[in-house]
Amino acid sequence: MVSTQDNSHGVIESLQSEVGSFPAPPAFAEAAQFGPEIYDEAKADPVAFWAKQAKSLHWHKPFTQTLDWSNPPFAKWFEDGEINLAYNCLDRHVLAGNGDRIAIYWEGEPGDKRAISYTELLSEVKRAANLLTSLGIHEGDRVAVYLPMIPEAVISMLAIARIGAVHSVVFGGFSAESLRARIDDAQAKLVITADGGWRKGKVSPLKPAVDDALAIASDAELSVKNVLVVRRGENDIAWEEGRDLWWDEEIALVDNEHTAKGFPAENPLFILYTSGTTGKPKGILHTSGGYLTQASFTHKAVFDLRPESDVYWCTADIGWITGHSYVVYGPLANGATQVIYEGTPETPNWSRWWEIVERYGVTTFYTAPTAIRSFMKQGRAVAQQNDLSSIRLLGTVGEAINPEAWLWYREVIGGGSAPIVDTWWQTETGAIMVSPLPGITATKPGSAQVPIPGISVDVVDDNAKHVGNGNGGLLVVTQPWPSMLRGIWGDPQRFIDTYWATFGDKYFAGDGARLDEDGDIWLMGRVDDVMNVSGHRLSTTEIESSLVSHPSVAESAVVGAHDETTGQAVVAFVILKRNQTVINDGDQASAILKAHVGSQIGAIARPRQIIIVSELPKTRSGKIIRRLLKDVAEGREVGDTSTLADTLVMQTISDKIK
Ligand code: PRX
Repeated sequence: MVSTQDNSHGVIESLQSEVGSFPAPPAFAEAAQFGPEIYDEAKADPVAFWAKQAKSLHWHKPFTQTLDWSNPPFAKWFEDGEINLAYNCLDRHVLAGNGDRIAIYWEGEPGDKRAISYTELLSEVKRAANLLTSLGIHEGDRVAVYLPMIPEAVISMLAIARIGAVHSVVFGGFSAESLRARIDDAQAKLVITADGGWRKGKVSPLKPAVDDALAIASDAELSVKNVLVVRRGENDIAWEEGRDLWWDEEIALVDNEHTAKGFPAENPLFILYTSGTTGKPKGILHTSGGYLTQASFTHKAVFDLRPESDVYWCTADIGWITGHSYVVYGPLANGATQVIYEGTPETPNWSRWWEIVERYGVTTFYTAPTAIRSFMKQGRAVAQQNDLSSIRLLGTVGEAINPEAWLWYREVIGGGSAPIVDTWWQTETGAIMVSPLPGITATKPGSAQVPIPGISVDVVDDNAKHVGNGNGGLLVVTQPWPSMLRGIWGDPQRFIDTYWATFGDKYFAGDGARLDEDGDIWLMGRVDDVMNVSGHRLSTTEIESSLVSHPSVAESAVVGAHDETTGQAVVAFVILKRNQTVINDGDQASAILKAHVGSQIGAIARPRQIIIVSELPKTRSGKIIRRLLKDVAEGREVGDTSTLADTLVMQTISDKIK
């Protein structure tokens, strides 16, 4: 069968002739909420199209201007409107008489369960909003959220939004060091965490990382005044009187009445840090009205959402953009019923996810290709032990899905008929940008296909020229979109340099893509020094900086090498300092340096492989040629070495691997 890791033209063509495309089942297409005319409507006047979508939200004060693009690349959407995101996600559903509808079926990893109605969720968010206010959090203040996948994570985010403050959610897998950098950059006043969360059958502690992160800064420079701790793991934790507070004790003291007020549509909603090509994570800034407009529209259209009957499940953690847009804001704005599961898919065994699908009758399931490939490895029998017949739609996100995995997903999880939406987007885009619409587009395994209505993208060459069907180039967004990032927190110049410097008037996302003969888009991976491990972005530079911060390391070069399960894996080439005596070449060095990166950045950044070398391949001007290292890491013949200062280096490295 075909390998999609090789996205070359020949492969795509042969694949298409082999498996073709899959029109939606007729009954699905007939019942779909949107028909093909939505593309025409959006194309005729994209700005009016978005204004119409925005009007399906509740505005405390209606907007009169849709888009202000007079100062590109700084867009303003719905600027004179006032909106409250929590009100849109909760109050209006309750007021519409849907308060009894379940908002969240939550399941903890140990098996504990909660079904939370919209009325209950609203009440908890109101209390939490009052609690935040009582702790001195006001409009515009930043709050760091470092929580496991428990209801309080969603409650915290919505409570922060409700009072016009700004959340910065930090993935629970990130280390104290990463957490500290994010708290400092955003100057957060409050951290919300837990005394642990369940992962792989154990309590993974979170509070100690918060303690360590805050211990590094002196009291005088510390922006954080309080740490609010949710009781979940029940493990022993250190406690700082005056600073640390138990969530349950504090929330019991506040009222559950709270009136949501409107805030300007361009008020910051959240900062979410992501990796770029340099070592310093970027605080991607999103604002309110435009973000919710596109998150809710795409959630409705791409997942053909029926709030009355669907049970939706997106497996992403709230620490990533997918969790923000398609666990919190999109589904709740649409009044959906969804599943949230705390733990890992293999705990206590690989049936866990499928038991959850059966238990709650999940209809719509959204996950990452890396997870699908992990399940493929277990064999179809594992997934087929449960009744998955409730599923009517599948989605993927995070990286290109290889056609084998796509076909397996459709066959084994989707009962051979569920449409699959392959959704391309980024932390920066805030919401889905390229994806089939399930009742309209005949889907093609491995291709994200077409921009959603209202979005304009192109594939261009280095001179910004459209490449034409059958050719590859760079994926760009050519018109502003409602949920676009509004900047990088505290660094407007970096925003311009990173995304707009290449083409001036087009947003360059960093991904290569190719157009097939039908004009459908096939994503071909990053063209910069960003890796994609299990659908998560990691920067080569960030990991290299971490490695050289170890006292025994002189130099390092990191590449993303193809990995069957995770898409890419981190492979690091390291030169040890000549006089260091702390670590030996071989296993010991490897174990120590892997642990070092794990503790500095987080477990996701741990290299799969550390290769100790005595030289790195460099040009005469000293630039490391990672391409050659990637050849070695992927076991290929090493490419052209003619630009190397020392052409023998690659021979030495290749010999070492053998
Ligand atoms: O390279 C693309 C890849 O993930 C990157 C964005 O990563 P992040 O900001 O962490 O957001 C991930 C979830 C939206 C993109 O630049 N990517 C995301 N979705 C796809 C994808 N690559 C191919 N196909 C996709 N569907």
